[in-house]
Amino acid sequence: MGELSGRSVTALENFSSEEIRLILDTAKEMKEIIKRDIKKVPTLRGKAIVNLFFEPSTRTRTSFELAGKYLSADVVSINSSTSSVVKGESLRDTLYTIESMGVDAIVMRHKAEGAADFASKIVKPVIINAGDGAHAHPSQALLDMFTIEQAKGKLQGLKVAIVGDILHSRVARSDIVGMKKMGIEINIAGPKTLLPRYLNVEGVKVFERIEDAIEGADVINVLRIQLERQKAGLFPSTREYARIFGINDERLKLAKEDVLILHPGPQNKGLEISTAVTYGEHSAIKEQVQNGVAVRMAILALTLIGKK
Ligand code: NCD
Repeated sequence: MGELSGRSVTALENFSSEEIRLILDTAKEMKEIIKRDIKKVPTLRGKAIVNLFFEPSTRTRTSFELAGKYLSADVVSINSSTSSVVKGESLRDTLYTIESMGVDAIVMRHKAEGAADFASKIVKPVIINAGDGAHAHPSQALLDMFTIEQAKGKLQGLKVAIVGDILHSRVARSDIVGMKKMGIEINIAGPKTLLPRYLNVEGVKVFERIEDAIEGADVINVLRIQLERQKAGLFPSTREYARIFGINDERLKLAKEDVLILHPGPQNKGLEISTAVTYGEHSAIKEQVQNGVAVRMAILALTLIGKK
């Protein structure tokens, strides 16, 4: 394990395809542990991890917490709404306070883009970015790739369509960076107002019609419409969005017969995805959640073991 020791995980831009491969292979071993009756190994005994979440979360926070616990680390979760942040304490002071307690890693979610990177520059613990504004969500991209590889047996050469609110999606951004590194062909689609103006990543194809993006796709990653991040005028009516861009059984027929459906959650059912697709035979949405624990165990083990 040593290669990633002491490294913060703020964005996948900082990781090579070999390093991503190492995380995915380690996650495979970690998945075996989760399936056991007694899900506890001593890998991170004596290490302390703080989950510091300034934005809401169910999956990411719980899975990082369980990942640390399954590896025997001591894990504390702080919710900004019940911390001194509500008294006006700054991010810098909050980080210094946690660092002073002898913590080895801080898993952090914040609404400001660059918050995790800032943290990694001012405190010693390893910083794991659990989402910074619309910028990056590296562990989600890793679990998406892990889920795809588990289902398809490979990543290289697959065609993945990422559809919906690309503009506000940190998941899309990290998926694009990570998947490109692993040799995946990427199609993007969404309403013109929700596509970044300068999505200029070589090899990524951008479509305005969702049908064109999902045609022949091996995987469709359906993004949540980030209703809390919309500015006036960007979003059509919900009915119009569902009709033109929603993923339903009819549209799925355009993709490969064995297409895999991903969604990072939480879902707006009936908006970006139909109930039938969520619970249908192509959906790997539940697997994504289970794989999220395995991938986060891998991230924590690889970055914390051997860390001084
Ligand atoms: C994502 C997030 O927070 O960026 N959710 C998650 O981590 N599972 C996606 C979203 O909120 O739409």
